[in-house]
Amino acid sequence: MIIEPKVRGFICTTAHPAGCRENVKKQIAYIKSRPKCSGPKKVLVIGASTGYGLASRIAAAFGCGAATIGVILDKPASGSRTATAGWYNTAAFEEFAAQDGLYAKTVNGDAFSAQVKQQVIDLIKQDLGQVDFVVYSLAAPKRTAADGTTYSSVLKCTGEDFVNTTVDLNSRKIVDVTVPKATEQELHDTVKVMGGEDWKDWITALSSAGVLAENTVTVAYSYIGPTLTYPMYHKGTLGAAKAHLLKTAQEMTRQFPNVNAYVSVNKALVTQASAAIPVVPLYIAVLYRVMEKKNIHENAIQQIERMYREKLFVSPPALDETGQIRMDDWELRDDVQAEITAFWNKLYAHALPDHSYIDQYWQEFRQLFGFDLPNVDYTRDTDPDVKIPSIHN
Ligand code: NAI
Repeated sequence: MIIEPKVRGFICTTAHPAGCRENVKKQIAYIKSRPKCSGPKKVLVIGASTGYGLASRIAAAFGCGAATIGVILDKPASGSRTATAGWYNTAAFEEFAAQDGLYAKTVNGDAFSAQVKQQVIDLIKQDLGQVDFVVYSLAAPKRTAADGTTYSSVLKCTGEDFVNTTVDLNSRKIVDVTVPKATEQELHDTVKVMGGEDWKDWITALSSAGVLAENTVTVAYSYIGPTLTYPMYHKGTLGAAKAHLLKTAQEMTRQFPNVNAYVSVNKALVTQASAAIPVVPLYIAVLYRVMEKKNIHENAIQQIERMYREKLFVSPPALDETGQIRMDDWELRDDVQAEITAFWNKLYAHALPDHSYIDQYWQEFRQLFGFDLPNVDYTRDTDPDVKIPSIHN
């Protein structure tokens, strides 16, 4: 069939297998162009099919020569429906890993569940014995905890309702947006979903099963961003969840003698997760433009490669005064933020320059799903049914 992008709001309901394969191939080529990393050898990536998790898996496999197990929540093709982008990415990843003789297996299921944790433990015992690096890179709207309670995360403020001017990236109109204040319950539930509790459940389960190597490193990803987005992110419900993530990392390092847990604060990127946050997509669109102009723009694979080589797998790891790895160092540079503030001031004054940064945002967004890439023939009849060789459902 001919597969086309079907974008509704900030969701794309189709994905292109050849385009997703091309995305993975490009990331692998980038890693292979960089010096080898003396990093981990047996790696578990939780949330491995897109965004930062996929980049973490690619950098570990092709940069450090690591065996990888990925945990994903993706759907295969069925009838006229394509598979999800994460499904095609994972199929391509496994194909390229096999070509290079790298072990790669994938568990498809709810990472929050005890059943998936047990499946992963059994797989590690059977194939790898132990893992020495665990990446926790989930971005999820809800979580069913071990006691059966389902929590939903919300993207809201924790102070007063916040009103800001933004450009609606769909209608391209300048609009006022109100980000409402979360209730105590909503705040609590968001921390349950996006905070550190499940990360700790994973490390506890892996440790109790004896499948963590001496000096295991584990990392989860966070975001802070500029003061401009503080009300809806850093000082909002997600920021509270990220604060909990950091507290959990410190707790785990104290509690598990063979584990060093870190939080890496990464740069804002166009991903399915960030698209859902109020005002942030516009900020990201402008950020890309400014950072590209200054030649300091990085995508997910460039961020992770730099993190492994310069900040995480060095002794001692490079941490800031709060104990976090800072990969947002270039995003938060004064000169970068000054240009973004100047842009926002023009936005308030309704004196915006051209809107081509919005076209670029949407191109980046479609590319996440394998569309709009050079080197892919979208007029070719394509079979959406692609198998992941190792999949454990
Ligand atoms: P993403 O949406 O690209 O990836 C999320 C991954 O989690 C996907 O592989 C998805 O399949 C998986 N997933 C979601 N729910 C799952 C479940 N129940 N079971 C198994 N897998 C599940 O997101 P992105 O942007 O890569 O985010 C990953 C982490 O990085 C998040 O913690 C996010 O807050 C953080 N981060 C993201 C930034 C951004 O601008 N995109 C910036 C800094 C940090």
